[in-house]
Amino acid sequence: MGDNSAKLNFGGQETDYKVLSGSVGPEVIDIRKLYANTGAFTYDPGFTSTASCESKLTYIDGDQGILLHRGYPIDQLAEQSSFMEVAYLLLRGELPGKSELESFTRTISRHTMLNEQLSTFYRGFRRDAHPMAIMCGVVGALSAFYHDSTDINDPYQRMVASHRLIAKMPTIAAMAYKYSVGQPFVYPRNDLSYTGNFLRMTFSVPAEDYVVDPVIEDAMDKIFILHADHEQNASTSTVRLAGSSGANPFACIAAGIACLWGPAHGGANEAALNMLREIGTVDRIPEYIARAKNKDDPFRLMGFGHRVYKNYDPRAKVMQKTANEVLERLGVKDPVFDVARELEQIALNDPYFVEKKLYPNVDFYSGVILSAIGFPTTMFTVLFALARTVGWVAQWNEMISDPEQKIGRPRQLYTGPTARDYVDVDKR
Ligand code: SDX
Repeated sequence: MGDNSAKLNFGGQETDYKVLSGSVGPEVIDIRKLYANTGAFTYDPGFTSTASCESKLTYIDGDQGILLHRGYPIDQLAEQSSFMEVAYLLLRGELPGKSELESFTRTISRHTMLNEQLSTFYRGFRRDAHPMAIMCGVVGALSAFYHDSTDINDPYQRMVASHRLIAKMPTIAAMAYKYSVGQPFVYPRNDLSYTGNFLRMTFSVPAEDYVVDPVIEDAMDKIFILHADHEQNASTSTVRLAGSSGANPFACIAAGIACLWGPAHGGANEAALNMLREIGTVDRIPEYIARAKNKDDPFRLMGFGHRVYKNYDPRAKVMQKTANEVLERLGVKDPVFDVARELEQIALNDPYFVEKKLYPNVDFYSGVILSAIGFPTTMFTVLFALARTVGWVAQWNEMISDPEQKIGRPRQLYTGPTARDYVDVDKR
């Protein structure tokens, strides 16, 4: 890591700060001594110019539309790898050999069952509860069942908790779906792939045999890969901040799920499909483009824009290709997909979107595929959370073992009332 320095002239004094360089990407100015040196804070709402940590997991170049996981480009991983292999890569740092992958996959398979008492936990929810509400509750509750993997200072317990979280998310997600449609829960099967097992737990019914469709299995696995990790996004930062206090891993992931639910973040896939359905036909697109550009209208094109990507989100490219494949395979003619492609073309040629560098993001096309496979829109963010658990867990492990990590505690610019004395109610 090359070092040089940056000077700051402030309050009549000049102070120096180290500049650190990574293996690729922007340099960082190490301002950890700034408050001690100057008595001032930096001010960066939304952290648009702030690096919160050092990481070796995922690199994004927003201008070039590049996304690497441990150096491997996302389009190569999506086309040639598997979600289990990407999970291993993110957790361990290298692609596994054949026997390493087999043993990792077997370990994950053996953790897919939930403590049976958790199935009664579901019955406390209304049937029409949003599955993300159930996910927040059930994942947080895991810490009540798996005490033997909550000591974050024990590397073995950290590994077991990581495997349990990755393994149990599909079971929890499938059970949330089954509960919402009033069908019986389906137990996991160890003879199926991670993704095939999830599809069977979600869509099979006791009344008939269920055979996993390899094309759907492949598309689902690709979607999981595309959602696995994404640098220090809002929900990953939430997991890291929760973890920095020493909270147990189940509580940290539950916090990440809660943050992901927001429509500006992972909730955008559900919002994007609802928006496309509301637009309905190609001829109504101009009305919505106008609304998206109207400063007085809070409406935004869901699935468009990104804090980091000021070019095409590389995941959206793979997602659009997969949408074509799945709709063709299923013989589905979804008018929503036609609206999505036409909306993209119109937006990418509109000066407003071009000037603000707004491109489709990972959430723009994913809903078209998930809807074609048979998921209700309320399950879309659940699937995002299922896949992102791999990234959250990998980032949490990296944070815990980072010697520089300490509890996250930002400061503020205070603009409230200065000190004043209390006034008794009969004198106000
Ligand atoms: C994800 O961070 C990650 O990595 C997230 C994620 C991941 O994998 O973890 O990639 C997943 O969350 C993808 C993003 C999903 N969200 C959406 O699709 C919701 C719609 N998009 C926006 O809300 C917005 O683009 C954000 C939240 C994604 C990014 O917002 P920023 O970076 O804070 O940018 P901004 O809101 O300041 O927008 C810049 C300008 C603004 O106009 P001005 O005030 O400068 O005039 O662009 C406009 C915005 O009004 N703008 C949009 C728009 N997004 C931004 N205008 C219309 N439609 C949009 N979608």
